[in-house]
Amino acid sequence: MYLQRRNRILRQTPAIRAMVSENNLLESDFIAPLFIEEGKNKKTEINSMQGYYRYSIDNTIKEVKELWSLGIKSVLIFVKSADELKDNTGKEAWNPNGLMQRSIKAIKDAVPEIVVMTDIALDPYSSYGHDGIVENGEIVNDKTVDALIKMSISHADAGADFLAPSDMMDGRIGAIRNALEQENYTRIGIMSYSAKYASCFYGPFRNALDSAPGFGDKKTYQMNYANRLEAIKETQMDIEEGADIVMIKPAMAYLDIIREIKNAVSVPVSAYHVSGEYAMIKAAAEKGWIDEEKAIIESLTSIKRAGADLIATYFAKDAIKIMNEL
Ligand code: PBG
Repeated sequence: MYLQRRNRILRQTPAIRAMVSENNLLESDFIAPLFIEEGKNKKTEINSMQGYYRYSIDNTIKEVKELWSLGIKSVLIFVKSADELKDNTGKEAWNPNGLMQRSIKAIKDAVPEIVVMTDIALDPYSSYGHDGIVENGEIVNDKTVDALIKMSISHADAGADFLAPSDMMDGRIGAIRNALEQENYTRIGIMSYSAKYASCFYGPFRNALDSAPGFGDKKTYQMNYANRLEAIKETQMDIEEGADIVMIKPAMAYLDIIREIKNAVSVPVSAYHVSGEYAMIKAAAEKGWIDEEKAIIESLTSIKRAGADLIATYFAKDAIKIMNEL
């Protein structure tokens, strides 16, 4: 055989493969989600997310210091709110002394350089477990946006660097941006969950925060997973309204959407490798059916190859440890 081109030349050795690798994971690609609960010296494993924990604020600080020392630049924080604090207005969400607000302050005091991103949505504070205010069985848009504004400003007051609205109400990015301007918060970013699908892959997360919807589902606000154009529309609107970073969620079943959006917009694109995606790898690895380390790196690399500039993932720490061994 006489071939003009032998493609296997570029795959011969680890050195050559590394030289021509098109996508390489970096520590700074990762956003580490953190779950926080009340108490002291608490570390509670999440049933549905083996190897992932909710920490009290003191232990959260230790975790954040470790993440920073590993090269992770940002954390995305979620808190577990007590049942007695939940109601239909979600007002605990903007309590200046709430667990979220105290957590933001504590993290910024301990590691001022780390970028603190906060989830903006009412579900952990809603007695209905919905992302918005409920009236006659409906999740009402505009009143919810008013609540999200209060929540956003209280996170800004506490010292958050980026707000991450995950609720999918209409008009919330513009409303939050306006409110930030009015309060003279000109350095706070918005990472919008711009294309967030109504997905079964959020199940383990809802278990972590005890935030599953009490009735119905989230299909009147989160997107239908059959849709592609709608993702581009939602994302473009969020950018026009003032989003600095946009996000696609979940990640692995939506790699096509990540690529479409990456091609369509000129702001950084992030993807959320969600709880169900984490749980599937963990469960298969526990059974010995999959090599956990390889599955982690292959999954995250595929998300980056699809076009994600940033990846929110529960594997952030594991990935860096594996990357350092390779
Ligand atoms: C809250 C929120 C959810 C997730 C992030 N923010 C749950 C939901 O929308 O029901 C899911 C994250 C994950 O599954 O890892 N609105």
